[in-house]
Amino acid sequence: MNIILFGPPGAGKGTQASNIVKTYKLSKVSTGDLLREEIRKKTTIGKKIKSVIDKGELVSDKIINNIISKILLDKKYYDRIIFDGYPRNLEQAKKLDIMLKQNNQKISCVLSLEVDINSIVKRVLGRQVCSNCGLTFNEYFNKATSKNHDCDSKFLVKRADDTENTIKNRFDTYIEKTLPILNFYKEQKLLYEINGKSKIEDIFEEIRNIIASLET
Ligand code: AP5
Ligand code: MG
Repeated sequence: MNIILFGPPGAGKGTQASNIVKTYKLSKVSTGDLLREEIRKKTTIGKKIKSVIDKGELVSDKIINNIISKILLDKKYYDRIIFDGYPRNLEQAKKLDIMLKQNNQKISCVLSLEVDINSIVKRVLGRQVCSNCGLTFNEYFNKATSKNHDCDSKFLVKRADDTENTIKNRFDTYIEKTLPILNFYKEQKLLYEINGKSKIEDIFEEIRNIIASLET
């Protein structure tokens, strides 16, 4: 089973991808996380893309397709991927179809988390990511506590692109470039629309029900 988690910045894709990974034998592939890792390691790609991500624009399809094609060739990911934040435009979506076909795989469903711009801004500005374990929390909606987080609070950091200016650009990029993909998947009857404003646990329950319906 390969699942795409779709939605605007701050919709909860990463949060739900982590929930899915905990429950199902699937692997998360987040292009955003992979790109941030390139920046952290100061690789040639990392140096090229930092300013693009900080502006809230899309990294080139060539870089993204390269990353994804390597993952699809890796047997440990065979037919068990949750794509988080990919594909991001129609070209990437079409290329993914081709690459999956070449590897005898397909998309099982596209889960679209729908959230309005005002909630997005608050979510993104309140986001805290643990630089030690990678978990995501929120100052306003999902505080890190001793019950849900084992690491010291000193590891909680903000993402460089979680600023008020960049989030608006990221949202505009989403509307212009990413949203048109929805029709592409709707036509293939792969699309499931989910109210991303519900509680984290309720959204996950809806996702579990959708996955169960695919398995029968
Ligand atoms: P990426 O890292 O993918 O960022 P994004 O799409 O902007 O999404 P976010 O990670 O900001 O949000 P999320 O939906 O994962 O929400 P989260 O679960 O963290 O991409 C970053 C950049 O990399 C892009 O701008 C682009 O430049 C580049 N890039 C990446 N992929 C690319 C591609 N394929 N092609 C080209 N460029 C690419 O939740 C957000 C916050 O809300 C958290 O604090 C969380 O605790 C909280 N929260 C989550 N769910 C709820 C809820 N239900 N209620 C209340 N709070 C909630
Ligand atoms: Mg994310």
